[in-house]
Amino acid sequence: MGAEALIRAARPEDHAAIAGLLRHAFDGDAEAALVTALRPAAIELVAERDGELQGHIILSPLEAPFRALGLAPLAVEPVWQGQGIGAALVREAIARAAGWDAIVVLGDPAYFTRFGFSVDLAAGFACAYAGPYLMVLPLREIPATGRILYPQAFSAL
Ligand SMILES: CC(C)(COP(=O)(O)OP(=O)(O)OC[C@H]1O[C@@H](n2cnc3c(N)ncnc32)[C@H](O)[C@@H]1OP(=O)(O)O)[C@@H](O)C(=O)NCCC(=O)NCCS
Repeated sequence: MGAEALIRAARPEDHAAIAGLLRHAFDGDAEAALVTALRPAAIELVAERDGELQGHIILSPLEAPFRALGLAPLAVEPVWQGQGIGAALVREAIARAAGWDAIVVLGDPAYFTRFGFSVDLAAGFACAYAGPYLMVLPLREIPATGRILYPQAFSAL
């Protein structure tokens, strides 16, 4: 038994297990459908241990006045939550986004600010999800204002 999950790029043979994991973590089909829509343009990683998928993360392009990736969704299989797998997925996703200007996330600041995401840095942007849960993690210098547009697929959530 490996002590830690391996974080690696998702492969086509993972897709069915990813859909199952998303249904368990979110209690519905909407996130699995979203991931299927986002997948072609995305950075998609899984956490695997002993052949089991324990977690999943996907980053996909957004329209913004900088080269932006949106982080969503992030999910860890319920029985494996609270053991650092989500954090390992977020950290590896940030490392693999090095060619981009910033990552945007809609989530709980109590969780995402630990990785450097900032509510204040997102406050200058017009966005359908603007407010206390929208955060930006700059990877390079980015403008402070403008519009962030999520793809249509997100409106089904
Ligand atoms: C959110 C989630 C991905 C975190 O993954 P994880 O592997 O359980 O988290 P980690 O082990 O990396 O971190 C645990 C920490 O996150 C906190 N945490 C876990 N889920 C949280 C949530 N939804 N909101 C805020 N904090 C959360 C825990 O309290 C713990 O805090 P601590 O380090 O201060 O004790 C996971 O709980 C999950 O899949 N939840 C259901 C789906 C979801 O809500 N996804 C996020 C939005 S896309």
